Amino acid sequence: MATEVHMHGRIGESIKRKEDARFIRGKGNYLDDIELPGMLHMAILRSPHAHARVKSVDTAAASAMPGVIAVVTGELMAQHKLAWMPTLSYDTQAVLATDKVRFQGQEVAAVVAETLYQAEDARDAIVVDYDVLPAVTSPDQAKQSGAALIRDDKENQKDNHIYHWESGDKDTTQAAFAKADKVVRLHTFYPRCHPAPLETCGCIADVNGATGKATIYMTSQAPHAIRTVFALVTGLPEQNIRVISPDIGGGFGNKVPVYPGYVVATAASLLIGRPVKWVEDRNENLISTGYARDFHMTGDLAVDKDGKMLALRVHLDSDNGAFFADAQPTKFKAGLFHIVTGSYDIPTAHITADGYYTNKAPGGVAYRCSFRVTEASYMIERLVTNAAIELGIDQAEFRKQNFIRKDQFPYHSATGWVYDSGDYHRAMDVALDQLGYKEMRKDVEARRKKGEVTGIGIASFTEVVGAGHGADFDILGLRMFDSAELRVHPTGKAMLRMGTKSQGQGHETTFAQIVTEELGIPAADVAVEEGDTDTAPYGLGTYASRSTPVAGAATAMVARKLRDKARKIAAHLLEADEADLEWETGRFYVKGSPDKAKTIQEIAFAAYTNLPEGMEAGLEGVHYYDPPNMTYPFGTYAVVVDIDKGTGQVKVRRVVAVDDCGVRINPMIVEGQIHGGLTEGFGIAFMELITFDADGNCIGSNFMDYLLPTAWETPRFELGETVTPSPHHPLGAKGVGESPTVGSPAAYVNAVIDALTPYGVKNIDMPVTSDKVWAALRAAGVNE
Ligand code: CDP
Repeated sequence: MATEVHMHGRIGESIKRKEDARFIRGKGNYLDDIELPGMLHMAILRSPHAHARVKSVDTAAASAMPGVIAVVTGELMAQHKLAWMPTLSYDTQAVLATDKVRFQGQEVAAVVAETLYQAEDARDAIVVDYDVLPAVTSPDQAKQSGAALIRDDKENQKDNHIYHWESGDKDTTQAAFAKADKVVRLHTFYPRCHPAPLETCGCIADVNGATGKATIYMTSQAPHAIRTVFALVTGLPEQNIRVISPDIGGGFGNKVPVYPGYVVATAASLLIGRPVKWVEDRNENLISTGYARDFHMTGDLAVDKDGKMLALRVHLDSDNGAFFADAQPTKFKAGLFHIVTGSYDIPTAHITADGYYTNKAPGGVAYRCSFRVTEASYMIERLVTNAAIELGIDQAEFRKQNFIRKDQFPYHSATGWVYDSGDYHRAMDVALDQLGYKEMRKDVEARRKKGEVTGIGIASFTEVVGAGHGADFDILGLRMFDSAELRVHPTGKAMLRMGTKSQGQGHETTFAQIVTEELGIPAADVAVEEGDTDTAPYGLGTYASRSTPVAGAATAMVARKLRDKARKIAAHLLEADEADLEWETGRFYVKGSPDKAKTIQEIAFAAYTNLPEGMEAGLEGVHYYDPPNMTYPFGTYAVVVDIDKGTGQVKVRRVVAVDDCGVRINPMIVEGQIHGGLTEGFGIAFMELITFDADGNCIGSNFMDYLLPTAWETPRFELGETVTPSPHHPLGAKGVGESPTVGSPAAYVNAVIDALTPYGVKNIDMPVTSDKVWAALRAAGVNE
């Protein structure tokens, strides 16, 4: 038999994305592509008011309209004990309103009809009598003693305060501040923005009355967790629930929570006995589903006269909307915000956070972020730049002076994190070299002398991705492990199934590459499947850049299990002792006789045809990986901006992004992730904003008001890399997907602040729009 080994697609190879063959031909299978026999359509009636008592819901006219099969109200849901559901943060959320509406866009009733248009027409014929109440639209308002009580449905809730949470050491931090030569303060607001995936959220619920089986096609980033929540909410036995996430057109955290529409569609299908499809439109997506950020933050950095950081104190008020529905690990009320000491060796820190109910949509999803790491990274990186400016030290030098050094890893942070590995100085040096920092600084000074407004911004972020370790990280009690099941067929081709779910990140390619690396089966021969809870092993899903750190590790581990069995089979085939066999990717050979070998394909065939006596047949296994720690990717981003004095328009001239995500599985895909993340960071920094008027009307509910960057606005990105492997990940890989969204907003804004420093401007909150910059320049006396 031939022993030649073909292994296209090992780790480090930029092979083309396998899934693109169907995506670029329009052959993807998204939720709205799915048509089931007898399928009905559902439209949801939403509240026009931010806060109002629901006096009555009149469905008579709607029920009589053509094609209408059912009108579902809160009252009907209450009869089935489904008017309220649990949130991912142990609160309750109204499925359909029974007593009050608490945000504009809240679900009030739903119509199920033969066609979508019939459902929408009938929805508009429902008459709701509201008694409008005053709206609370900010934490500052929410904490006033006379503020309207939003959650009067909760017995012990006497005000709008949700939680108080602390991290770090108050006393040592206070003592360090007392000794500081200088304290630099930044008050900043990371505004509410939205993941806005191209495909909105939706589901098709198909409950079979005869078998009792509920098949729910859903745009879910976490299908297994959703199945469990559904079993608990509806009382359906979990084995009778099958959640299938088909191809997903972007998620970015928006598709993690359980939305009322899913529950209503499932209840409707159960009651009617036909499949029910619900797909939200863009407006519904932007006003009612998981928003991101909305943190009001005040940070104080204590430094000594030499510029050494001594202590950090941060307080934040979180605007959680009407229901506390943040998608985050149970233990951490304000997400992982306490990573806020970032890349710096700050001996002590104290973080306090208070959450408030407001009359806004709930959510708090980790929009391309590990549970509030983005807000933390923004806070520290903005604060550090402001401190450098106030101290008169170069921003790059100030960072380098205070970076955690390479020899300090594993590094124990003041708020209890253990950073796995890093070399921040090197990432900074690579970025500065690539930008030509010294010359660029001189150029900035020369331009300023000519009256130009120009500046350089730097951000050196540290991230924490790959939740969990399960003992510390759980969602609703479910430990945040993940899984991989690998089956090698007799012909040496393989099927890999995982508990994660790609939304465009290229999992079908990169996870096949891990199998190639570990077993030598070419990536083209490894089919990767995710998203079907009837077939995939249980996992917590894809968000927070956890797929590679957790499920990627599970893939490597299961492949290694199979390799151990393959060694036994090879020994049998080669009539050699196991200990005498050497592995090189794709084959075992007898030590000293490289020609006496068996390929993994030959071994796979033997696993079904010619096994050692007594051995179980087959070559397959499953691994549930509970990571010992998170991974800590990092990088330095440097941005150059030019500002037009007359209009306040900011033009981004250069963006240099040096990322270190440990070992890169597929460098091309990593670069694609970085491009996407830098674009989203750019949008957040300069364009995207969900805001509200005094009555709680949502402004930013469509793509005319909520501005996403297109290729026209997006700057050119210059990428660089360093590689510092994670010591605890089996492949040395760290996550990367969210790094650029986490790290870049501060770099963009720091560049604007640097440019405006000669005019005394210390802060402009995002989005940094031309009118804000124009006003800042006017306030500084510029009149050109
Ligand atoms: O969880 P999610 O897939 O969003 O994030 P990720 O683990 O950072 O991975 C995003 C994509 O980049 C996946 O296809 C990864 O396998 C790939 N990646 C890689 O090739 N090398 C890394 N070190 C990290 C991610």
